[in-house]
Amino acid sequence: MTTPGVVNLAQKFALFTEQWSPKIVGELNGQEVRIARIGGEFVWHAHEDADELFLVVRGVLRMALRDGDRVVREGELLIVPRGVEHKPVAETEEVWMLMFEPAGTLNTGTAASEPGGRERTVAELERL
Ligand code: NI
Repeated sequence: MTTPGVVNLAQKFALFTEQWSPKIVGELNGQEVRIARIGGEFVWHAHEDADELFLVVRGVLRMALRDGDRVVREGELLIVPRGVEHKPVAETEEVWMLMFEPAGTLNTGTAASEPGGRERTVAELERL
């Protein structure tokens, strides 16, 4: 059993500057709480076995979905169900977001082995 400790998100985001490299800031029930800084756009992908939650901490996220974009602002969240293709896009210069998803979920999902996705896959996530 671990001792509960308060996680200060601003402090955690200040520990790194690289984009599209999720960091683990908490774990519970086989899920991970991850944070990431993003800029520009990612690749289209889906996660066959994982629903994925995105909570915007700073900036504006545009989540492209095949049936239309969703704009997610500070303090808002979006859950992308498993199997649904999505492409995160930073609408502002940089977006800080928190993600909640099963441990081991690859950031590039179904695009992990495809050109364009392979080089953006982060297999080992750092813990902050
Ligand atoms: Ni995803």
